[in-house]
Amino acid sequence: MRGMPSKLLVASVLAEAVFGQQSHVFQWQPHRHASEGAFALLAGLMASAHGRRVVPVCRRWERHIAMSQAYSARMPEERAPRPDWGLGRYEDMAEQLLPAAQVAVQLADLRPDVRVLDLGCGTGNASLLAAQRGAQVTAIDPAPRLRSVAYERALAADVEIDVLEGEASSVPLPDDSIDVLISVFAIIFCPDAHAAAAEASRVLASAGRLVLTAWLPDRGPIGEKSKATQAMMMTALGAAPAPPGTAWHDPETVASLFGPHGFEITASDHELFYEAPSAEAWFDRSQEHPMTVRGMAMLDRAGRSEVKAAIRERSIDILERGNLDADGFRIADRYRVLVGHR
Ligand SMILES: C[S@@+](CC[C@H](N)C(=O)[O-])C[C@H]1O[C@@H](n2cnc3c(N)ncnc32)[C@H](O)[C@@H]1O
Repeated sequence: MRGMPSKLLVASVLAEAVFGQQSHVFQWQPHRHASEGAFALLAGLMASAHGRRVVPVCRRWERHIAMSQAYSARMPEERAPRPDWGLGRYEDMAEQLLPAAQVAVQLADLRPDVRVLDLGCGTGNASLLAAQRGAQVTAIDPAPRLRSVAYERALAADVEIDVLEGEASSVPLPDDSIDVLISVFAIIFCPDAHAAAAEASRVLASAGRLVLTAWLPDRGPIGEKSKATQAMMMTALGAAPAPPGTAWHDPETVASLFGPHGFEITASDHELFYEAPSAEAWFDRSQEHPMTVRGMAMLDRAGRSEVKAAIRERSIDILERGNLDADGFRIADRYRVLVGHR
């Protein structure tokens, strides 16, 4: 799709500006030829006039649009992952998780021009780091808004990445097309772990490697807070507790998923730290996390909004007990990096 004529893209932008048929953000950049530039300028002005946001487009983005449309057409609705991580403002948490992406990229031991897949890229933390090291990066995520954020961050950082719609059990890439697959707290959300392992193994070249991160079950106060919140919500909503998911932190489990595809797994444990002026400030900031936004909306819909105050009180108590900083708020969170070689 690299050769998709720019005029076609411009025409589609014009059509959208006029008819408003699609929902993605439109991007425009001056083209090499004057006629294309004039078309693009006109399209950009029209899109702006219709309240659309106009930011630069490059040929890679053309490829993104074309491939995403092809992929959307073949991804059955029921397989599209829920919930949508584009809810709320994941950007804030992503900033706090950046050190984990740095560890993952470091352990990936990237060489220039290596083909990297950042699976579940979110706002693109690992993608940008890998691209800055000279890798050819494909960033995949099911959340449309986060894909746009990742793409815009790459533009701002002046690195090229391909951004595609997809998810771990259905990766829109050919066999053997990737050298290193990185997934920072993302493949762990795939409901079908066996399908995810099969897809990762399919797209990875024979000497390819994997770097995955997963939260430890005894991750610390954040884990305790999540469990307490979940229990309070389930009680309020009269829902049965969710069945345990795949133990992505467990090297034996990961070996049982990837071993049949020829991978050997090693693991190392790491810590992250989150900081804020106070436990209350950190808690209030975290209310924009997509899963929290979703959970609070469920309470509202069920007419149980009053439970939110109890969740806040309990959470702040747990956070204060885990606080490592007498003069402010600093809290540790523990995760594991699993590396697969074959
Ligand atoms: C905790 S965020 C991590 C995002 C990013 N990797 C980072 O380091 O900030 C989880 C990400 O996984 C994505 N995700 C959810 N289900 C997924 C699936 N089945 N396959 C791939 N990614 C998925 C979400 O859209 C979200 O961007």
